[in-house]
Amino acid sequence: MDPSPDIAPVEHRVALCDRERRNAHRGGVLWLTGLSGAGKTTLAFALEERLFRDGLQVYVLDGDNVRHGLNADLGFSRADRGENIRRAGEVAALFADAGVLCIAAFISPYREDRAAARAAAPGRFHEVYVRADLATCERRDPKGLYRRARAGEISNFTAVDDVYEAPDRPSLTIDTTVDSVERCVTILSEYVGAHFRRPDGAR
Ligand code: ADX
Repeated sequence: MDPSPDIAPVEHRVALCDRERRNAHRGGVLWLTGLSGAGKTTLAFALEERLFRDGLQVYVLDGDNVRHGLNADLGFSRADRGENIRRAGEVAALFADAGVLCIAAFISPYREDRAAARAAAPGRFHEVYVRADLATCERRDPKGLYRRARAGEISNFTAVDDVYEAPDRPSLTIDTTVDSVERCVTILSEYVGAHFRRPDGAR
């Protein structure tokens, strides 16, 4: 989508590096993708809590929450999912620009849409594949949605009657069928420690 030719971006007078120096870490996007029930939301909020306690500026953008506000007008057609991820990617990029570590938790089933979200935050987008096989997700079925999808009450349900395109080369893969929540959060928090440090050695 191209902006009107009659508008031009305005420079901030507070630089990102100044925000990052104050926060003592880099801003960026940790983008969790995976099936419904894979554990994205659980991990995102547990990680947010741990990082916040560690002193980071961190905020979770979660699909279910964002679909109650900003994206309340969107459903689950191909076009609506694309728009859902486009807006989420732009908002996550704004958080990153503000120096915040934004944890985004969206099924985001299409590679093309995730690539667009990456392009919104160039160099600061980290894709994390939260992996769990469909049978496990169906067994967990925390919201009863798989059961309803199998019963034909919900259509276009990811991995039931809609596609999920797994990442080709994620920055990190977390397998929630193997590791406990605690262990997954530790792996994620170590990843953040390694990749969101400032070059001067501060976190
Ligand atoms: S995405 O595909 O557009 O990225 P998003 O992460 O925002 O999805 O929202 C997924 C959540 O919506 C799921 O956790 C589930 O609770 C709910 N949901 C409702 N209908 C569907 C559907 N058809 N497919 C997947 N999730 C659905």
